[in-house]
Amino acid sequence: MPKDITPTPTIFERRESAARSYCRGMPALFTSASGAELKDADGRRYIDFLAGCSSLNYGHNDPDMKAALIDHIAGDGIAHGLDLHTDAKGDFLRAFDTHILAPRGMDHRVMFTGPTGANAVEAAMKIARKVTGRSNIIAFTNGFHGVTAGALAATGNGYHRGGAGMTLNNVTRMPYDGYFPGDTDTADFLEAMLSDKSGGIDAPAAILVETVQGEGGLNAARPAWIRRIARIAKAHGALLIIDDIQAGIGRTGTFFSFEEMGVTPDIVTLAKSLSGFGLPMALVLVRPEHDVFGPAEHNGTFRGNTHAFVTARVAIEKFWADDSFQRALADKAAILTAALEEVAALVPDARLKGRGLMQGIDMRSGDLAGEICARAYDKGLVIETSGNEDQVVKVLAPLTIPAETLRQGFNILLDATRDAMADRVRLAAE
Ligand SMILES: Cc1ncc(COP(=O)(O)O)c(C=O)c1O
Repeated sequence: MPKDITPTPTIFERRESAARSYCRGMPALFTSASGAELKDADGRRYIDFLAGCSSLNYGHNDPDMKAALIDHIAGDGIAHGLDLHTDAKGDFLRAFDTHILAPRGMDHRVMFTGPTGANAVEAAMKIARKVTGRSNIIAFTNGFHGVTAGALAATGNGYHRGGAGMTLNNVTRMPYDGYFPGDTDTADFLEAMLSDKSGGIDAPAAILVETVQGEGGLNAARPAWIRRIARIAKAHGALLIIDDIQAGIGRTGTFFSFEEMGVTPDIVTLAKSLSGFGLPMALVLVRPEHDVFGPAEHNGTFRGNTHAFVTARVAIEKFWADDSFQRALADKAAILTAALEEVAALVPDARLKGRGLMQGIDMRSGDLAGEICARAYDKGLVIETSGNEDQVVKVLAPLTIPAETLRQGFNILLDATRDAMADRVRLAAE
């Protein structure tokens, strides 16, 4: 009898739900991380070009955030505070006001929601509906806003929508900037349909938009398009909600992804890198006149993740108190573009997508993009795809990644792409 060599399933395979995802393609047992690098149980080093899907914009275990958190815990600081006043929340709000909102002339109130991006989006949509008394929300092709029912209704992705198990409604989908090839301006389309009494679109409570569609394939809207969307929203009595959950907190080169576009959104959603340390934290920024929820009308047990307030305060004071970090981001984005061009040159018709430190390559094939990421992972690079066909290799390295580590990561990506292309050429010749 041949010996049974079926490997024993791991605890993850035996017990963790089939809903797990990233760990399927990257099955290492990760045990520690620092900056832009992870280590697994065998001591193997990985360069991180995923950064917790933009939740670790300042890298893993920033020493100043870590020290402040350890001090807070060691001093019996409040760990969980519902939405009670705590010193940690007050200190965060003061830092956010001083270094982020006030310098940008934003008078928005800060509403803490449950600690996920989806919860912030739910709250934003509900606020707009309450303010306007309307239910319809305009969202865009390839937009991704989370997977709870309200946010999922606004999400375009067919796979995720399929998981809802119910009709997702009260959202009208419109084509995002650049959705059609050629010169079609999809804002014209939206404006015409909303202005036509027989256009068939119910008057919207809000227009919900990402300035760069992170999950949708790094589609970057033109600033002029976003400005028009803002004007259309105003003209039609709808609020403008910018979902900055993935594109915000420095990812596109400025704290908010929209701040150089000349628009002031009525509502902004933030989560992911807000805590700076990878801790769950989300909030909604809302213009004072739209701050309409009564006490606990949109509540949540974990609105006061005090540990996240501590690290978020340090992140803001460390990186956003002056413009040196932001200036460094512009230099790094240029390095990223040049390196991506080298990789894209290996693949016929590949093209660069995104902006700032939220860029990638449309490989024109989901299979190819997936294979490149799998090969890169085997060589020690954590990287993922996005897009409607998963055809975009997306680089979301920590914004703090040293230039040398960025280069090492790109050398891996170059090798992986070269190997994948060589295989294809070989197979075609057989
Ligand atoms: C733009 C955007 N909005 C909302 C979400 C949902 O955030 P979460 O996964 O924390 O619920 C995401 C997640 O990727 C996102 O990219």
